[in-house]
Amino acid sequence: MIHAVLAFDDERDAAGALAQALGVPLQLIGRHRFPDGELRLTLPTPLTGDVVLYRSLYQPNEKLVELLIAAPTARAQGAARLWLVAPYLAYMRQDIEFSPGEAISQRHIGALLARTVDGLVTVDPHLHRIASLDEVMPGCCCVALSAAPVIGAFAAAQRQRPLLLGPDGESVQWVQGAALAVSPSLDHAVCEKVRRGDHDVQVTLPAGLDLRGRDVVLVDDMASTGRTLVAAARLAFAAGAARVDVAVTHALFVGDALAQLLAAGIGTVWSTGCVPHASNAIDLTPLLAEALQQLVA
Ligand code: R5P
Repeated sequence: MIHAVLAFDDERDAAGALAQALGVPLQLIGRHRFPDGELRLTLPTPLTGDVVLYRSLYQPNEKLVELLIAAPTARAQGAARLWLVAPYLAYMRQDIEFSPGEAISQRHIGALLARTVDGLVTVDPHLHRIASLDEVMPGCCCVALSAAPVIGAFAAAQRQRPLLLGPDGESVQWVQGAALAVSPSLDHAVCEKVRRGDHDVQVTLPAGLDLRGRDVVLVDDMASTGRTLVAAARLAFAAGAARVDVAVTHALFVGDALAQLLAAGIGTVWSTGCVPHASNAIDLTPLLAEALQQLVA
């Protein structure tokens, strides 16, 4: 039985909504930054039973250190089992050694988290060449939820029979999941992408795709620099799309990403609340709460 949700002040809203859905108190972790940059964390005490730690791992480096300190402290304060809710799970894209000597970050961060908590609930982790999160986090009870069905229903409520377009081959899982969640299923397709650098991608539309006059919603698991979505949007407009909007699970949107999207003519950007952002419009709280209840039961 879950006794409390722990969170940091900057995620008070999302964690508070989850705590409310679970019918348990939200308890905040105090954080003091020393002049040299080190952190002092203060956890509520005592803790008891199953405890949820809510920490979405965008801008992950500091948050990982917080977790390494907070998790054993929660156990020391009495938590019997610790369940991490990390709606965004960082470091999942580096899943092979692309060039000699490159760290397979996914494997190492996954193993670190598996040692730190008893279980994890996350949303649309970027698993490309890996079939399941269990391979990444051995021995940890992992639940990888997908926002795709909720995104599909949301897009269908916003636009008349939109065509869902994924910007690259990896997005097929999310685009299909979104399109098939609507009855009758939405038209959908995926592009091909070649990435040449952090801000440099080349995208091609599938041959024969007719976008003339269509409302297109670009669907992807995440947007970081936004260049992938910009490239796909430009192609969609060039192919005659009447309108292009964006729906993503993880709104990382670094630097000038949002400005670039708007400059490319994209109308509205919608995202889930996995990463706090002005575009958050799609609520996954019920999905997270249900998954946790099943996991802990
Ligand atoms: C990778 O394939 C992901 O699914 C996203 O397409 C990618 O991370 C987006 O990156 P960016 O916004 O920097 O183009």
